[in-house]
Amino acid sequence: MKVTVVGAGAVGASCAEYIAIKNFASEVVLLDIKEGYAEGKAMDLMQTASLNGFDTKITGSTSDYSKTAGSDIAVITSGIPRKPGMTREELIGINAGIVKAVSASLVEHSPNVILIVVSNPMDTMTYLAHKVTGLPKHRIIGMGGALDSARFKYRLAEALGAPISDVDGMVIGGHSDKGMVPLTRLATRNSVLASEFLSEERLQQVLEDTKVGGATLTKLLGTSAWYAPGAAVSGLVQAIACDQKKIFPCSALLDGEYGLSDLCIGVPVVLGRNGIEKIVEINLSDAEKAHLTESAAGVQKTNSLLEA
Ligand code: 2OP
Repeated sequence: MKVTVVGAGAVGASCAEYIAIKNFASEVVLLDIKEGYAEGKAMDLMQTASLNGFDTKITGSTSDYSKTAGSDIAVITSGIPRKPGMTREELIGINAGIVKAVSASLVEHSPNVILIVVSNPMDTMTYLAHKVTGLPKHRIIGMGGALDSARFKYRLAEALGAPISDVDGMVIGGHSDKGMVPLTRLATRNSVLASEFLSEERLQQVLEDTKVGGATLTKLLGTSAWYAPGAAVSGLVQAIACDQKKIFPCSALLDGEYGLSDLCIGVPVVLGRNGIEKIVEINLSDAEKAHLTESAAGVQKTNSLLEA
């Protein structure tokens, strides 16, 4: 299993590290435009192999896409991260050009690749990857919901005073501070609804804290987070590589599902060796449907900023 990660910045390098440590991929190729940067990070990561016990071979390259040839899965993290006070949508001007070029280069060298888009504004960048590459829609996946759901579980566990391993919850909708839809109604603590333990007000606070989870960290760190984004995307890579048939909320191109079409937005999908094996349509409450529709309008608005 050959995996390429484009962008050897904090998110890309963390993703490569988590993939290597999980030891399911034979090869990870790390690419960056900065001379020597990907090579250095790959060598540093390889020097952890004996310490972390993995056999994955990590190599780095300065923008030589021939090194990515034959990749089964490729993760796109390249582009600029947001700064405190910025929205993800404000990154479109620079990141759209980068994602367009990177997507095309990846597919040119790996026609059978499954693309996972992380670069922000992620739902729009995922949509752009479809437009640029023309890959079958099940082979382009946007990573946002897996990260947002991890932050949701963190906040739920905090509110419940429970171990995170006892908590489950999912965030659908756009990967944006305003567009996320944390499904508090369905959140559980070991199969018991979280609403059995928490008041509506406390659950609403969990929802609000989740929606600004990325912005909260950007304010603290001065740049976007990287550990949880890297870990979240490594989980998607593993589900595909190992044909796990796991459900994740991912940004998928919709064609009528949830009453939405011609956009990529976070919905539950089954991930396996073919990428998106199924889009799962769950029964949403009227309020959840309204939030998802509103979120979709926000994604469509950002999509409209893409140059024709
Ligand atoms: C985040 O929410 C980078 O969008 C990513 O941290």
